[in-house]
Amino acid sequence: MIVAFVSKKGGVGKTTSAVNVATALARLGHRTLLVDLDSQASASLSLGVARADLAPSAHDLLLGKRPAGEIVRPTAIPNLHLVTASVDLVAADLDLAPLRDRELVLGRKLAPLRAGYEWILLDCPPALSVVPLNALAAADGYVVPVVPQILAYEGVELLLAAVDRLRYRFGIQLRLFGLLLTLVDGRTRLAKQTVRMLRERFGDRLFAAEVPLSTRLAEAPAWGRPLVESEPECPAALAYVAVARELLTRATGR
Ligand SMILES: Nc1ncnc2c1ncn2[C@@H]1O[C@H](COP(=O)(O)OP(=O)(O)O)[C@@H](O)[C@H]1O
Ligand SMILES: [Mg+2]
Repeated sequence: MIVAFVSKKGGVGKTTSAVNVATALARLGHRTLLVDLDSQASASLSLGVARADLAPSAHDLLLGKRPAGEIVRPTAIPNLHLVTASVDLVAADLDLAPLRDRELVLGRKLAPLRAGYEWILLDCPPALSVVPLNALAAADGYVVPVVPQILAYEGVELLLAAVDRLRYRFGIQLRLFGLLLTLVDGRTRLAKQTVRMLRERFGDRLFAAEVPLSTRLAEAPAWGRPLVESEPECPAALAYVAVARELLTRATGR
């Protein structure tokens, strides 16, 4: 199952969600591959890869001649493998532009890897440019992290509409696995009201689990270990395990 974590917005928890859900799936015994598609390489760094050690990366996967198997690396977490990002991904949109079927490159490159993994998670940059379009075209479904703020629903509606157009254009089956509430500040009344409003509006398109605002979660990238692995019992980690279990049901019906 290939899952893209997408949003046009930055700072909504795409990377944190992709990293922790991937870790949770791996800890549940599923062979999992995380592909970091953002030139910032936050997912790669969050998993303890040193900045100097990011090559070979997703750029080589998309545009290089190396076989995918040489670009995938293990992580410190059993069952979790990684394709790193690197700064040359900044130019990937331009590098892909002249290619025919430029949105379909990633799907072709991932095809030989599919058999080796139950889950392939794609962490996207904050845009709907060529690289994230590749991720959506390659995916079976997508997850959209949403920070509960007034007007958050507008961005979500626009994204869902854009993905619908994409489905039509490429004739692909791409399912919304769920909208995921992240950075939920349980202390303020406004946040609670906003969550209620989003739940009324989007119903079961939202994951039941929501990820609380958590200092521990914000600090974890500095240690190079996902919170789900370093402190599995803390509330934000438990939330991500619940999200992973829900993803299992939503995506595979198990
Ligand atoms: N639930 C949370 N509570 C507190 N900080 C968070 C939470 N989720 C993410 N963060 C922090 O917020 C910032 C943006 O999150 P990130 O996952 O990188 O978003 P994106 O990938 O959408 O840009 C990061 O510094 C991250 O550590
Ligand atoms: Mg990110």
